[in-house]
Amino acid sequence: MKTLINDIDHILLSEEKIHGRIAEIGAEIDSYYADRDTRVLLLGILKGSVVFMGDLMKNVKIPVEIDFMKVSSYGSGTTHGSINILLDLYRKDLSNTDIIIVEDIIDSGRTLSYLVDYLKLKGANSVKTVTLLDKPDRREVDFKPDWTGFVIPNEFVVGYGLDYDEKYRALPFIGVLKPEIYS
Ligand code: IMP
Ligand code: MG
Repeated sequence: MKTLINDIDHILLSEEKIHGRIAEIGAEIDSYYADRDTRVLLLGILKGSVVFMGDLMKNVKIPVEIDFMKVSSYGSGTTHGSINILLDLYRKDLSNTDIIIVEDIIDSGRTLSYLVDYLKLKGANSVKTVTLLDKPDRREVDFKPDWTGFVIPNEFVVGYGLDYDEKYRALPFIGVLKPEIYS
């Protein structure tokens, strides 16, 4: 049987630990948006957020809608990195919608800081962000998410939606890739 497990140096976050934290975040989101009569939209950023999104949406009890955007960042790691929207959010009117952007990981911070501004310009009532992972050491623009699953060190991680060269997304944990795989 083909397996990707041999490419993993070590497991950083187990499925159990991730599930426990997502339950806590779900409860925090519930209390933050309690008693609003707006629509709450969980907006996942493809493709890395899909596994986190699936868990998070089951862990919030307030009524939420879901949608997805797809973006690509070119030149990330440089000061010239720019964001391209590959799949946009198509809604007539966002003035009654509170958006929560759902991301897998924040690295430079460029993707989320761009998207927050973009969605506010589109007229959303409010825009918040939730990320499963945060690597603050890698930040190139000042950005702080509203909810964070785990702050992690500056290592390349895969699994739970995160990929290297489109692989490893289906692993049910967050693992550190052996350096020889990408070097
Ligand atoms: P940034 O914050 O704009 O730099 O973009 C974050 C994006 O970079 C994430 O959505 C991932 O697609 C990718 N990324 C950053 N660090 C990692 C990692 O350790 N593993 C896998 N993807 C990563
Ligand atoms: Mg991503």
